[in-house]
Amino acid sequence: MRKEFCEALAKAQKNHDLSREEIIVLLEAEGEELEALGRAADEVREKYLGREVHLRGIIEFSNHCRQNCLYCGLRRDNKHLRRYRMSPEEILAAARKAVELGLPTVVLQSGEDPYYSAPVVAEIIRRLKEEVGVKAITLSLGERSREDYRLWRQAGADRYLLKHETANRELFACLRPGTSWENRLRCLLWLKELGYQVGSGNMVGLPGQDLETLAEDILLLKELDVEMAGIGPFIPHPQTPLAGEAGGSLDLTLKTLAVTRLLLPLAHLPATTALGTIHPQGRRLGLCYGGNVIMPDITPLPYRRHYQIYPGKAGVDQEIETNVASIRDLIASLGRSIGRGPGHSPKWRGGVELYEMRAGQLY
Ligand code: 5AD
Ligand code: SF4
Repeated sequence: MRKEFCEALAKAQKNHDLSREEIIVLLEAEGEELEALGRAADEVREKYLGREVHLRGIIEFSNHCRQNCLYCGLRRDNKHLRRYRMSPEEILAAARKAVELGLPTVVLQSGEDPYYSAPVVAEIIRRLKEEVGVKAITLSLGERSREDYRLWRQAGADRYLLKHETANRELFACLRPGTSWENRLRCLLWLKELGYQVGSGNMVGLPGQDLETLAEDILLLKELDVEMAGIGPFIPHPQTPLAGEAGGSLDLTLKTLAVTRLLLPLAHLPATTALGTIHPQGRRLGLCYGGNVIMPDITPLPYRRHYQIYPGKAGVDQEIETNVASIRDLIASLGRSIGRGPGHSPKWRGGVELYEMRAGQLY
C-alpha cells in the first residue's frame, strides 16, 4: 500500500477530517487499498452508528418534471415517458402499506411538479402523520420557495432530500440547464434554518467529473454538515442527451461512500437503488462500505416502471412485500438489525435554533 494512502487513512479514522489532496489519495485506492478503505469505513459506521440499518419506504408519486436535466429520464423533453400523478388518497394508501410492513419512515419523492401546490402537499403531510401514523416524513420535491418549505415543515415534515448533484458549479449549470448551483445551495440553507434534517449528495461518474470534483463533493457535504448523504453511480439513460456516456463504476461509488463515511461519521448513508442497479451485490456492498440506510421502493407497481430516472432500476417489477423481505434477509445475513423507531439523525435535536445558529456560523 502507498505510504501516503496509509497516512491519509489513519488521519481520516482519527480526525474525520482531510484535505482535498488527501481525499484524492483515498479515492485512488485499488486492490488491497480498496479493501482497507472499506474496512475502515465499516469500523467507523459500527463505532458511531452501530449495527442498525434504517429502512425508509419511498413513494415516487409523480414523474412530471419542469426541469430538463441532461442526465435524467424524467426530464421534460423526454416524450417517450408515460407521465403519471398519484392522488393524495393513493399516496396515503401506499403509506398505509408501508406502515403495515413495518417501515416507520416514508419518503415522498417526485420530479419538480408544481401541480402539487404547497397547501395540497401540506395536507398530505398532516394526514400521513395523523391518520396513517407515519413516524417521520422525508420530502424530496426539488427546489421550491422558502415559504413552501416552511409550510411543509410546519405541517410535520421532518427531513428534506435535495442532492447538490455535483460540487462543480460549471458542470452543474451545464447538466441542469436553467437552474443554478447558487440557488440549490440557497435552498439547502433555508431547509437547515427551518429545522429540517437535511440530506444532500451527488452522483459518481458524471461526464466531466474527476476525482478532484468528487473530493469537493465530499467536502461540501461536510461543510453543510448534512444529516444524510445520498451517493449513487450515474447511469446513462437512452432517452437523454447523455445516452452514449459511460456510467459511474461500482468501485468508485464504493470509495466515495467509504470516504464520506470516514469524514461524516454521524451521517445517514443509504446503499442506493442505483448501486443495486449497476451490480447484483451493489446494495450489500454499499452497506459494507459505510452505508446504514436502505430505501425500499413502495411506489404502487403500475406506476413504478414509469419513474424511470435511469434504466434497469433494481426491483422494478417486484412486489413490495417481496422486496422488503429480501432487504430484511440481506440485513440479517450481514449480522445487522433493522433500525427501530423513526431513525432520526443522531445529531438532530429538532430545534430550529440549532440550525439557525449553524447556518449563521457557516455563511
Ligand atoms: N443516474 C443515476 N442517478 C440519477 N439521478 C438522476 N438521473 C440519474 C441517472 N441517470 C439521481 C439524481 C437525483 C435523483 C432523483 O436521481 O441524483 O437527485
Ligand atoms: Fe427533474 Fe430531478 Fe430529473 Fe432533474 S433530476 S429532470 S429535477 S426529476
